[in-house]
Amino acid sequence: MSFLSDLKTLYQVTLRPIRGRDHGSRMEYFYGGQAEAYDAFRRKMLRGREEVYGRIDVPRGGVWVDLGGGTASNLEFLGPRIAELAKVYVVDLSGSMLAVARRRAERHGWTNVETVEADVATFRPAEGAADVVTFSYSLTMVPDWFAAIDNAWAMLAPGGRIGVVDFYVSRKFPAQGRRRHGWLARSFWPVYFATNNVFPSPDHIPYLQRRFETIELAEGTTRFPYQFRLPVPYYTFLGRKGNRQD
Ligand SMILES: C[S@@+](CC[C@H](N)C(=O)[O-])C[C@H]1O[C@@H](n2cnc3c(N)ncnc32)[C@H](O)[C@@H]1O
Repeated sequence: MSFLSDLKTLYQVTLRPIRGRDHGSRMEYFYGGQAEAYDAFRRKMLRGREEVYGRIDVPRGGVWVDLGGGTASNLEFLGPRIAELAKVYVVDLSGSMLAVARRRAERHGWTNVETVEADVATFRPAEGAADVVTFSYSLTMVPDWFAAIDNAWAMLAPGGRIGVVDFYVSRKFPAQGRRRHGWLARSFWPVYFATNNVFPSPDHIPYLQRRFETIELAEGTTRFPYQFRLPVPYYTFLGRKGNRQD
């Protein structure tokens, strides 16, 4: 990761206006110029990914759907366990990010990994159901994130697992036991992130907990390279689809 490459990515992430007629073209416009440098730049700032991907049980012969999977770097956290899965779908709307994912799969000999250019709010695996679904820093970019969570719930088999890691802000009055962010954090981060079409929400965690049984929920903070000294809040959520039918 050179300083020059960092500067270029920083410009794309913070200053370059995002153009495009629809969500898919906006995603490709944003990530097209930075897909190759994406992993190096995000490695330290997108925390919690290893915890989520490394801790989900890999069901032998199962189907794992990585929604908004980007360059598929998170699949490396599965280590050799990835070979036990029948199929892994990396679903994303950015063709450039998926091109990096395909090269990664070829390099590792992951013959069970398939990249799919599709919207996470509507994608369904050909097998009909998934055993694991994951969202890593993608839910905050999906305009209709309710639909994305509902779709994840619908494609999961009963007892299936969901893992989510993303930025967020707390509610002003969060549920008991949850962190409460101050006025500055609750006001600043949504405005700052909106320039990148990232929308940290106080409602992701409550909706995930309404839809899925909670196995584990953790809240933490990260920092951005070269930018603010302010801590940036993120959460990790591990959940399970119960036997409810709606
Ligand atoms: C911040 S990147 C995260 C990539 C990867 N999951 C990671 O942890 O490094 C967000 C990804 O979500 C994808 N994305 C955003 N909205 C999407 C949607 N509605 N359907 C599919 N992919 C989407 C973007 O194209 C991008 O690759």
